[in-house]
Amino acid sequence: MKTLEMQAPEVAQTTDFLPINGTDYVELYVGNCKQAAHYYQSAFGFQPLAYAGLETGLKDRESYVLQQGKIRLVLTSPLKGGTEIGRHIDLHGDGVKVVALWVDDAVSAFNETVSRGAKPYMKPTTEEDEFGKVVRSGIYTYGETVHIFVERNRYNGSFLPGFRAWNPAYRPADVGLKYVDHMVGNVGWNEMNKWVDFYARVMGFSQLVSFDDKDISTEYTALMSKVMSNGNGRIKFPINEPAEGKKKSQVEEYLDFYGGAGVQHIAVATDNIIETVTQLRNRGVEFLRVPATYYDTVLERVGEIDEDLLPLKELGILIDRDEEGYLLQIFTRPVEPRPTMFFEIIQRKGAKSFGKGNFKALFEAIEREQMLRGTL
Ligand code: FE2
Repeated sequence: MKTLEMQAPEVAQTTDFLPINGTDYVELYVGNCKQAAHYYQSAFGFQPLAYAGLETGLKDRESYVLQQGKIRLVLTSPLKGGTEIGRHIDLHGDGVKVVALWVDDAVSAFNETVSRGAKPYMKPTTEEDEFGKVVRSGIYTYGETVHIFVERNRYNGSFLPGFRAWNPAYRPADVGLKYVDHMVGNVGWNEMNKWVDFYARVMGFSQLVSFDDKDISTEYTALMSKVMSNGNGRIKFPINEPAEGKKKSQVEEYLDFYGGAGVQHIAVATDNIIETVTQLRNRGVEFLRVPATYYDTVLERVGEIDEDLLPLKELGILIDRDEEGYLLQIFTRPVEPRPTMFFEIIQRKGAKSFGKGNFKALFEAIEREQMLRGTL
């Protein structure tokens, strides 16, 4: 059995050419952003923040911005046919278009990454309104997904210039989600190392943990995964590719339905996963379930934990341990018609890894769902 390789990011030897303060926002292109906003409010407890659309002078698209803790979601839909956003939705279904990164210097972020081979998406652009100035720039990553660098230290508006504050009376309570812990990309056959190399060479990230297909496989399906992290560890991007199994890998199923590489899941952190998942379930969020037998042996594998096992079992929350502590996690079912993107809820209690010990139980749960969809 292969052991976990933890590599400290090499910050001491070199200066970070792409300093990142954190995730700025995640933008999804969706068919109906008005209804999606309602779903993320009522089901996930995101709070209304900002709006842009016809009422702010846009003619071709509308966006709602929601926030919970430090997590900002932007939901965008086209307002007419024949748009780039509409083409994206037709090909991929609802999904993540932009993983925006908060930087101090969006011009430098663009120049440093493009000079290292990144494909430009948006040249450095200054936007301004009465609340100040924001500079944004952007590059492509896997598939049609992009990173936008956001420099906002001279801005104190609700979100970005061009957006107005959105203050509806309807405000369901939040569920305790705090920040984006990691975001996972699914890429095509034999492409994992290409994108690992992209994050290393173009963005200065280093590899944290490595799995191979023997680590993450079940009787039927397999995948390979490597985790890339930026210098200060605030940004973590695991990259998955499918691996050969007896039947179709869940990553391959994603690629088929998404029409290529894209964001597979957004992991969001909470300080109290039992409370958060109880709330989410009560509000209709659907989670993957592992067999009840998972809980018969889990404590033998992970050792002592602070929580009672019973509520974890009732909610279907998974447990894993590494050298530094343990973590609690659970995965939603896909949040759109295609079996593509989903969310992970995670509470870290020292552990810095991603739940490798749960993958087998989890994959078997996913395979049961693939079987129901006839795509295994
Ligand atoms: Fe994850």
